[in-house]
Amino acid sequence: MTDQPDVYPVPSEWAQRARMNAHGYETARTSARETPEAFWSEQARRLDWMTAPTRIKDVSFDKADFRIRWFEDGVLNVAWNCLDRHLETRGDETAIIWEGDDPDQSGRLSYRELHREVCRMANVLKGQGVAKGDRVTIYLPMIPAAAVAMLACARIGAVHSVVFGGFSPDSLAGRIEDCGSKVVITADEGRRGGKRVPLKANVDAALEKAAGAIVETVLIVSHTNADIPIVEGRDVRYGEAKHGVSDDCPCEPMNAEDPLFILYTSGSTGKPKGVLHTTGGYLFWAAWTHELVFDYRPGEVFWCTADVGWVTGHSYCVYGPLANGATTLMFEGVPNWPDHSRFWRIIDKHQVEIFYTAPTALRALMREGDGPVKATSRASLRLLGSVGEPINPEAWRWYHEVVGEGRCPIVDTWWQTETGGVLVSPLPGATHLKPGSATKPLPGVELELVDADGMVLEGAVSGNLVITDSWPGQMRTVWGDHQRFFDTYFSAYPGKYFTGDGCRRDEDGYYWITGRVDDVINVSGHRMGTAEVESALVLHEAVAEAAVVGFPHEIKGQGIYAYVTLNVGVEPTEALRKDLIAQVRREIGPIAAPDVIQWAPGLPKTRSGKIMRRILRKIAENEVGALGDTSTLADPAVVDDLVRNRAAGR
Ligand code: PRX
Repeated sequence: MTDQPDVYPVPSEWAQRARMNAHGYETARTSARETPEAFWSEQARRLDWMTAPTRIKDVSFDKADFRIRWFEDGVLNVAWNCLDRHLETRGDETAIIWEGDDPDQSGRLSYRELHREVCRMANVLKGQGVAKGDRVTIYLPMIPAAAVAMLACARIGAVHSVVFGGFSPDSLAGRIEDCGSKVVITADEGRRGGKRVPLKANVDAALEKAAGAIVETVLIVSHTNADIPIVEGRDVRYGEAKHGVSDDCPCEPMNAEDPLFILYTSGSTGKPKGVLHTTGGYLFWAAWTHELVFDYRPGEVFWCTADVGWVTGHSYCVYGPLANGATTLMFEGVPNWPDHSRFWRIIDKHQVEIFYTAPTALRALMREGDGPVKATSRASLRLLGSVGEPINPEAWRWYHEVVGEGRCPIVDTWWQTETGGVLVSPLPGATHLKPGSATKPLPGVELELVDADGMVLEGAVSGNLVITDSWPGQMRTVWGDHQRFFDTYFSAYPGKYFTGDGCRRDEDGYYWITGRVDDVINVSGHRMGTAEVESALVLHEAVAEAAVVGFPHEIKGQGIYAYVTLNVGVEPTEALRKDLIAQVRREIGPIAAPDVIQWAPGLPKTRSGKIMRRILRKIAENEVGALGDTSTLADPAVVDDLVRNRAAGR
């Protein structure tokens, strides 16, 4: 495309009317930097505290006295903040709009109704012996019960661990065991794109596998009314259990630093880690960023398309919007079913003002042309958002021009499971937009770019993205492994939090995230550790060794490219390839299925036996002319073979 502007200035009506304009942004940035205690103490008043905090920030990223504490002596309850405090002012307003997978199914819950549901579920959990600090695994479809379950846990001080419904029984088993959940909340089935997802059956399979699990109760919400087997003494049908329980349940007073939830995410090594977020700092960050970044105004309908199984769903389907008394839309289905207009039809049906989705969905829809978008009105839209991976300028412009008809600013929000909420994003009334750039850090977020040795890089430059000071929404530990928390994030560059992302800063001080620099790949906005996929592959009896890397994928952003060495005497066949893909789906889930499997008689290794992933990445990217230094390879012939057979392997 030619004649496309590189910069989209803040529209004047936004500069005048938005919650934060350019001047407000600069003032807030300066205050957060120069008088952090006063700044955050003032901002934290947006929450309703049982005891207001007086100790605001106590942080050190140094090894000797490593600690991250915010609002330490404050006492509050998350469910109170998301529900009870709204009852008087907006009890009858809609809290959740639910849109089913089936376009004929939808519903609404007012704040009063949601409050009642949450109290009931909280009392049912208590009746099952769940107490403050206990862990509860939630494995539900995108139905209001998912939000109800999260808030019911928060109400009684239980720590939830939501597991995405697309994860396999094996993945679920690992997560249940790791955090020692007493209770699993699930549904008979979920629905996605016209298909059924056997959630309860997956829980049964998971609990058969999870030898170390201490689950006493499986609470089953009925959704499709499918026929499911019941394990006596363990399974409880929620529909029956909730009869006869009171809809009055007092909120447990929680310390700001008490755990709120655990959410598992992939890293460059080992099993997924349980990211732990706490009560005060997390809720504050989710609520504050929801209002600021999306310029949320009372009465508006806010739709974040993420599943609650991911952090985006936690912060921007549930906690941020509800803490702000917003109307949040939960969608059970997928963007391309029953047709490619589904998103846009939902926007019209429920008069959505703010829409937040992932680049991968936009790229998939863009491929279908403008027709399915133009068949709808979208007149209600005011602001668009993007999250999960870098958005390519072409997709950005399509989003801006076709979906938003040039009228809606786009907030490209960079953040991570670890950060709790958005850290880098335009503010629609303050920041000129550049397609493909997440632009600038929010007030209170201090970024640096460093080189591999930790040297701080100044000016317009590329480097590794680090954060030099804490923000309230920062994760506090890896569940059960505090040392791993420190080692993963604070050991690469002492005194700084390392994001794992590469980034470029331009001459205007804008940040352009270039993607992960570690062994994490981002497939359709979902994080996947290459080591996890490799472990799943080598479990197969035919496989001797496997190495997995990412490669650029037109729709998914990155695809999964697996090099597989078979055991001696095993013939590579099409059936085996399918079998290996099925194996990964079974072990992890469909999102981890390799896009390409290349048979590799050998893998490029250093003389000390380390796999040279840099070379494998180049081959996968088809940049075989740029393999770089191969002189340290134990056997250079291995590379020639991989290059020669590359095309054949795809
Ligand atoms: O690489 C960055 C990418 O997603 C990673 C975090 O993944 P996850 O913890 O699953 O959280 C995703 C949703 C918050 C980051 O390290 N990422 C996320 N948002 C963006 C992004 N990359 C570029 N631009 C973004 N807006």
